[in-house]
Amino acid sequence: MVRTKDVETVIHQGDDLGEEHAGLSRTLTAKDLMGFGIGIVIGTGIFTLTGTGAKNYAGPGIVLSFVIAGFVSLLAALCYAELAAAVPTAGSSYTYAYTTIGEIFAWIIAWDLILEFALGAAVVARGWSGYLQEAFDLPTQFFGEESSINLGALGIALVLGIVAAVGIKESKWVTNALVAIKVSVCIFVVVVGIFFVKLANLAPFIPPAQPMREDLRTSGLEQPFWQWVTGATPTAFGVTGVFVAAAIVFFAYSGFEAVANLGEETKDPAKDMPRGLIGTLLICTVLYLAVCLVITGMVKYTNISEGAPISDAFDQVGMGWASVLIGIAAVAGLSSVILVDIIAMGRIGYALCRDGLLPASVGKVSERFHTPLRITIATTAVVCVLAAFVPLHTLAEMVSIGTLFAFLVVSIAVAVLRRTNPRMKRPFRTPWVPALPIVSALACLGLMASLAVGTWLRFLVWLGIGLIVYFAYGKSHSNLAPGNLVATGYGRRTEPPDGETPARD
Ligand code: ALA
Repeated sequence: MVRTKDVETVIHQGDDLGEEHAGLSRTLTAKDLMGFGIGIVIGTGIFTLTGTGAKNYAGPGIVLSFVIAGFVSLLAALCYAELAAAVPTAGSSYTYAYTTIGEIFAWIIAWDLILEFALGAAVVARGWSGYLQEAFDLPTQFFGEESSINLGALGIALVLGIVAAVGIKESKWVTNALVAIKVSVCIFVVVVGIFFVKLANLAPFIPPAQPMREDLRTSGLEQPFWQWVTGATPTAFGVTGVFVAAAIVFFAYSGFEAVANLGEETKDPAKDMPRGLIGTLLICTVLYLAVCLVITGMVKYTNISEGAPISDAFDQVGMGWASVLIGIAAVAGLSSVILVDIIAMGRIGYALCRDGLLPASVGKVSERFHTPLRITIATTAVVCVLAAFVPLHTLAEMVSIGTLFAFLVVSIAVAVLRRTNPRMKRPFRTPWVPALPIVSALACLGLMASLAVGTWLRFLVWLGIGLIVYFAYGKSHSNLAPGNLVATGYGRRTEPPDGETPARD
């Protein structure tokens, strides 16, 4: 169960596919990776959570909450960058765990990522349907949260699943177009909104701490994990409020790590991966901070809208037409989040099938489209069903816990690999190892502690199901299982090729 894959084997696994296997195509540059990164990062988070966070927990201090969440993400991005440049694979953190802490942990990570991306795509598809329903007054029977079958959410997931299946280049074009729209609107919000900023609205920057509003108090399974452990009385605003809001708005940064899943489709991963990952995060952080500062400067935090803070701020200053523009950006933004979620899931599935932990035939790359077609169809189908039938609002927090768990493991993997494999070629080196990865891991645990007890329980149940699947299938079918083969290229070998180190068992 704790058998590990050899790093060199992983690095070269794409090279020796043989003629009978089509590989993923290497077409992406650092700019494209940033396109995908921004595509998945900017979404519901900035368009909604800014309001909830500022009004209920942090006031204008929400800007600091975004700084804290961005800082935690940056630490993780620096860790991801080292591994994504050194071991560029479709499996990303799953593969990093496979080469460091062992197969069962790797499987748990993969299972966790499937949760993050599948739920992420489904939650966002339902959000998309809701926006559309409101904008065009569509029948609530088929669009929005009231629907019995959410055809809007199902439809958008299906269309984007088809784009993801047809090709990485096609996906890139669609993503870039959507990203251009939403980034332009963020810039518009800042450049135009700044003229309506009143400094008085920004004072006090961190409102004094006060007891939490009655309707926001949580107990039982709904309370944050740390509150359950310490028995503390929840307060709003003040410094604590800024940290509580940081855990909430962390969702806005989640997803950038999906860029690391495109390692086998990147032209020069050694250079492009660190740029893609860190570039994505820096651009998003700057946009987020500027948007937050402008919005809390335009509207007093007590009057900020919780549902649509950005468009509502423009309404409040008499620029109703701008809300329409922002609505369009939100819809565009949400579409690209779904698309990149589906693409990332396909790559994780591909890596799992290649390693024998899921049936190999499911993960085969299509010769026509050069994408893992069957696994993309399968994952799209799951997202469509979730999006159509399951009201996912309460499950959105699970996306955050899934992301933070992956960050935690990647941070640990960086420090472990430096010790166990000091000579590995590292085109990018995370600074201050092991201090930075340790701080990163602790920061992730800190944010996880702010998530609800119920989220932890649901997460543990999901991981339990994953373990059942592993023991029922993966453990014995793994390429590394005794009597099976050596993990190299896709598919199975009966003998290690000359000169290649057999995988450790
Ligand atoms: N970061 C993405 C969003 O905010 C998931 O929607």
